[in-house]
Amino acid sequence: MAYTDIDTSVLIDLPDDAPIQLFDLKTQQAAIRPALERRWIDILDHGRYIGGPEVTECEEKLAAFTGAADAVAVGSGTQALVMPLLAMGLGPGDAVFIPGFTYNATANAVLLAGAFPVIVDIDPKTFNMDPADLQRRIEAVKAEGDLTPRCVMPVDLYGLPADYDAIQAVADAHNLRVVADGAQAFGGKDKGKWVGNLAEITATSFYPTKTLGGYGDGGAILCQDADFADRMRSIRWHGTGDNRKESIRVGINGRCDSIQCAVVAEKLGLFEAERARRIAAAAVYDQRLEGIIDHQIALEGQENGYGLYTVRVRNRDAVRAALSDAKIPSGIYYDMAIHQMPAFAHCAEAGSLPECEKAAQESLSLPMHPYLSEAQIHKVCDVLIAAHNA
Ligand SMILES: Cc1ncc(COP(=O)(O)O)c(C=O)c1O
Repeated sequence: MAYTDIDTSVLIDLPDDAPIQLFDLKTQQAAIRPALERRWIDILDHGRYIGGPEVTECEEKLAAFTGAADAVAVGSGTQALVMPLLAMGLGPGDAVFIPGFTYNATANAVLLAGAFPVIVDIDPKTFNMDPADLQRRIEAVKAEGDLTPRCVMPVDLYGLPADYDAIQAVADAHNLRVVADGAQAFGGKDKGKWVGNLAEITATSFYPTKTLGGYGDGGAILCQDADFADRMRSIRWHGTGDNRKESIRVGINGRCDSIQCAVVAEKLGLFEAERARRIAAAAVYDQRLEGIIDHQIALEGQENGYGLYTVRVRNRDAVRAALSDAKIPSGIYYDMAIHQMPAFAHCAEAGSLPECEKAAQESLSLPMHPYLSEAQIHKVCDVLIAAHNA
């Protein structure tokens, strides 16, 4: 179904003079609050705060929605990245290729699993991993011989899927696994397929401001292999077997609680309508900014899930100040590339990832949520364009 055919009348409309927000969780809550209150009471009554029926409901709904073979709800997006790497038995000397312009969790996950993050540059238009640079860096690692390439972890930045066709081809050529960091991209698509079904394993996050967020921490692993999902269910419960007592492998507490699963299951009912509104909002931004201000661009066949709408501006501080003066919030995701953070400085030299470093200086995220009115978006664009051209 085209997003324009989706019934958005279930969503609340705000007046044009409502304060402009970067995200809006409050308006969404008003629509689902009665249902959530009923669900709270159910959880208080059944008392299964961990492992309640809401967990299975959420997992089944996530798998049915995305087309993944199975979904495993876990305690956070970070756990959803670490756990598949643990299951693959990665350790010292193993290389996992990640983009250098992402949230720190991507790099942390690799190091927590005991492997080494090899950092790949991004494509300046998509902000996502550059498949050609991936190929070069795999070959360089092989030539140096200190690390063994094992896995690629592309990130779907701001909601836009990475170039999985190209990345999978490179990964296949080098016999590498692909674990997608889709934490920001539930609702993104490529050639009609949802994020969650674009790689063999996808991690997503239910951090509250994500496109599909809970009211606390949570995440999910979506995968194409039901046996792998069962291993994830064991790992999230300290590596135990069916009796949940004896550890048959190393694991962690990686569980998502019943309350978070209930929130996510309920929010899935609004998801397509909210996504349609995000895409409509982005279309207004696109049309206003075309030829004036560079913004993240999808590849042919891709649909951005629009967790964020991100532009590039050279005079970012001045633009942010002008927006702020007009009571328009904006966000910087991120002002440092991964290797510019002290914890990851040993992973790549300064200057070795030019597009990541440039993006860290220029990227600016604008208000993006399903409850923005067209007039509000025009106001953002008026101030943005004037400040950009000043
Ligand atoms: C790209 C990316 N990866 C991983 C994560 C980690 O998710 P969580 O905060 O749920 O652990 C996030 C969340 O902010 C993210 O943006």
